[in-house]
Amino acid sequence: VRDAVAQTRARGQRIALVPTMGFLHEGHLTLIDRARSLADWVAISVFVNPLQFGPGEDLDRYPRALERDADLAAARGADLLFAPTAAEMYPDGRPWIAVVPENGADRLCGTVRPGHFRGVLTVVAKLLGIFTPDVAVFGQKDFQQAALVRRMVKDLDLSVAIEVAPTVREPGGLAMSSRNTYLSSAERDAAQALAAGLRRAEALFRAGERDSATLVASIAGVLTARGVEAEYVEMVDPDSLDPLERARPGAVIALAAHVGSTRLIDNVILPDSDG
Ligand code: PAF
Repeated sequence: VRDAVAQTRARGQRIALVPTMGFLHEGHLTLIDRARSLADWVAISVFVNPLQFGPGEDLDRYPRALERDADLAAARGADLLFAPTAAEMYPDGRPWIAVVPENGADRLCGTVRPGHFRGVLTVVAKLLGIFTPDVAVFGQKDFQQAALVRRMVKDLDLSVAIEVAPTVREPGGLAMSSRNTYLSSAERDAAQALAAGLRRAEALFRAGERDSATLVASIAGVLTARGVEAEYVEMVDPDSLDPLERARPGAVIALAAHVGSTRLIDNVILPDSDG
């Protein structure tokens, strides 16, 4: 990677990195498109990072298809695919030094996934160190992750631009996720409730509703009606992640929910009144 990066820089070209955990879908591939629009040379990493999975989570069954990923990434124009092993990334088993978020990681997904964002930020910091990209591209679906990565780059003075690309959805609205592969067809149907709930809240917001509790309750109603169990539904500031009582353009409503044994997340950024 260092040689490829050095050669690219010697050509005066800009470097973009798309960090992923693989099992690529159209959402990941649009991140490559975005990266390509911002840089001359695009690398994608595929690494199922053990450090960001808690005990009892889906590390072992997380879907993997490296050869297919390599074909898809190359067909979409990625110049390099980096797929290290866990032993290469963590030669001592666990890192001695980790990036520990002091704020913002103990809420939303962090409530039920303690240590998750420590694992995410540590591996992202390592990938940024390996590639020294000009720009790194993340997906909006993992909104809390993107907010914390932006904050890490700011607080640790890292020299990289962070881009966040819109969530890509299946025809019924379900946000694309490698974890959708866990869903049975009935569950996939029920999982449409996440996006449907968010669309409903967005419509209420466009119609003038500004009370957070009302917007959140409207989503909870849609989820319950489809038998989907919400873990959290919250409206927060997009940068500080602080809860908001009043809705405004740019605020984010984020949710996590369980469909059968699968945990899914989704969110919406509330639009400008003319958006
Ligand atoms: O969003 C993901 O797939 C992962 O959390 C990331 C950013 C690749 C870090 O492992």
